[in-house]
Amino acid sequence: MEQELIVEVESKEDSRRKRKEIKMEKQEKTIYDLPGVGAATAEKLIAVGFTDLMSIAVASPSELIDATGMGDVLAKKLIAVARSSLEMGFESGEELLKRREKVIRIQSGSKALNSLLGGGFETGAIVECFGEFGSGKTQIGHALAVQCQKVDKDAVAVFIDTENTFRPERIIQLAKGAGMDEEQVLKNIKVARAYNSDHQMLLAEKVEDLIKKQGLNVKLVVVDSLTAHFRAEFIGRGTLAERQQKLNKHMHTLLKLADAHNFCVYVTNQVMARPDVFFGDPTQAIGGHIVAHASTFRVYLRKGKKGTRVAKLVDSPSLPESEAGFYVDESGIKDVE
Ligand code: GTP
Ligand code: MG
Repeated sequence: MEQELIVEVESKEDSRRKRKEIKMEKQEKTIYDLPGVGAATAEKLIAVGFTDLMSIAVASPSELIDATGMGDVLAKKLIAVARSSLEMGFESGEELLKRREKVIRIQSGSKALNSLLGGGFETGAIVECFGEFGSGKTQIGHALAVQCQKVDKDAVAVFIDTENTFRPERIIQLAKGAGMDEEQVLKNIKVARAYNSDHQMLLAEKVEDLIKKQGLNVKLVVVDSLTAHFRAEFIGRGTLAERQQKLNKHMHTLLKLADAHNFCVYVTNQVMARPDVFFGDPTQAIGGHIVAHASTFRVYLRKGKKGTRVAKLVDSPSLPESEAGFYVDESGIKDVE
C-alpha cells in the first residue's frame, strides 16, 4: 500500500518536472529564433536594447523600423511572433495578490508620512513629490536613499541627480540619525549626474545593467528632478508634444523596471504658477497628465507653520486623499510632535 503511494507521488512529480522543462524551453527562445532575423538585424536590435522577446513583444513597429531599417510588414510580423511565443496577458487575482505580497514599503522616518502612503514608499511603484522650492523634495530623496538600506543588508539606492543637489555630507548626517554605518550607507548609493534629458533617460535605462550585470540589489531609484531638464530644453510652442512624448517614455522605462525588479522609484517635480486660478492653490505640477498618470502615488508638499511641511496625497490607487505633517532636521524626516 505504502509502496504504491510512493510510486504515485513520484509520477506526479515527474510530470510536473516535464511541464516545467517545456515551459523553460519556451522561455529560452531568443530574438535569433524570430523568423527573418539574421545576425546583422539581431545585432542592430540588441544595440538599441531589444535584447529579448519581451522587449520585441511590447515594442511598436516604428521602434523596430527605426532601429533596424526593416520593412513595416516584417516589423509587425516579428512583434506578432514574439507575442504569441510568450505567455502574455491575464494574471489571476491570486497571482496579483502574491506579487503584492512582495511589495516592500521604504520608511521615510516620519510615521505620518509613511501612513499617508499606506505604510511607506512602495516598491514596484513610482512615487512623485511635487512642490515649491524648499518644500523638502530633495531631503526626502536623501532620507529614502539611506532608509531603503534597512530593507536588505546589501540594498542599493540609485540617485539620478539632474540639478547637482546630491550631497554625500547630508547622507552621512542622515545615516548617523538612523543609527547606520555611514561609510557602508554611502558605498551603497550609486549617484549619476544627468546633464540633459536624453542623458537622464539613458541613465534610467542603465539601471537594469546595475541589476543584471553588476548583480546589485537595487531597492530605490531617485530621480531628482524628474522634469527640470525637460522643462528647460523644450521651451516655446511646438515643442510640447515632443517633450511629453519623451517624458512619457522616460516614465514608462522607470515603471517597467520598478515592476520587473521590485524597487521603488521616487521622483521630484516642480510646480508652476497658474494665472487662471483665483481661489485655492494657484500652483500645478509640471509635466501635466503624462507625469500625473504614470505616477502611482502623487504627493503635494507645501510649507506649513513653524517650519513644518505638509504632504497631501493627491492621487493613489486605493488610498483616500489626506494630509500629513512632518519636518526635516539634521537627523532626518521627523513627525511633528
Ligand atoms: P527645490 O529643489 O529647490 O525645488 O526644493 P526641495 O523641495 O528639493 O527642497 P529641499 O528638500 O532641498 O528642502 C530644503 C529644506 O529642508 C531647507 O529649506 C530646510 O528648511 C530643510 N532642512 C531642515 N534641516 C535640514 C538639514 O539639516 N539639512 C538640510 N539640507 N536641509 C534641512
Ligand atoms: Mg530639490
